[in-house]
Amino acid sequence: MVGKNGAPAPVPMQLIPLGRRAREAADREKAEAAAKERAERGTKRKREALAQKKTQTRSNLRRLVDALRVVFPEGSKCDTLPSAHSVSLICRLLEEIRPEDVGLRPDGARYFQELDERGARGTPAITTKNLYECDTFTVAAFLLSPGKVMPLHDHPRMTVFSKILMGSAHVTSYDWVQPSLCLDRRWLLAQKVLDKEFTPESGAWALYPDTGGNVHRLAAGADGPCAFIDVLSPPYGSPLQQIGGSFYEDMPFKKIHPAVPNQISEEQKGKLAWLQQIGVPKDLNLITLQNRGPGSQ
Ligand SMILES: [Fe+2]
Repeated sequence: MVGKNGAPAPVPMQLIPLGRRAREAADREKAEAAAKERAERGTKRKREALAQKKTQTRSNLRRLVDALRVVFPEGSKCDTLPSAHSVSLICRLLEEIRPEDVGLRPDGARYFQELDERGARGTPAITTKNLYECDTFTVAAFLLSPGKVMPLHDHPRMTVFSKILMGSAHVTSYDWVQPSLCLDRRWLLAQKVLDKEFTPESGAWALYPDTGGNVHRLAAGADGPCAFIDVLSPPYGSPLQQIGGSFYEDMPFKKIHPAVPNQISEEQKGKLAWLQQIGVPKDLNLITLQNRGPGSQ
């Protein structure tokens, strides 16, 4: 066909009915497009959830560290005990810390297995990871393999806050009996102040230079790994020191000849024990992970 000016005349649009195959192809395309859109929406949601989780994670540790910087200001001698208000604030902030905040995956057992594969000497008994450190305090995470024990140790002149993040631990702790009583020039009398099971639901607790169980032992439950977070002020200088100033062995009071006044009741005697300082336990297997600062994963 030729138009008025000799140009080809436009072809009128025609609606061509779709055949069965064409309809199926169109339906497939539609379904694929919808699936792609759903997948993209899902990925976006996951990304947003992850970003939110990271922000929250940073916030939990950051909030704790910010509060600690006020309670234990830089340059201070850390020679006074924190006030009751400060203790309650730090405990509350510690109770908001979750395993993910210290880089622990929800599957703690897998995490420990991976540590083994990193070439540690045998099964790691204790793993530490510094989360924040300054001249007045340290925030550190500790991880115990199932059934492993953090030996009896002390924190001389220190205040320590603790909170179980994963699993459970049986905590036994002592304070020195004052005035001090020595037996055979080796054994010092101490009084048991804690002897109980702690879980993430137990909340945070604190010990002080002379009270609250400054000498303590933590035994992880046998049914799974145990992780906990510590705030130590003033900080220790090395990873080994971070566990404790000295190590001890304990012996029930009843097992040796009593060198204490007769007026002590049977109930009181049950809480007493003799403690002797020992060297670093030979089976202490300590792994220190890299310090990457607050909020790092
Ligand atoms: Fe400790």
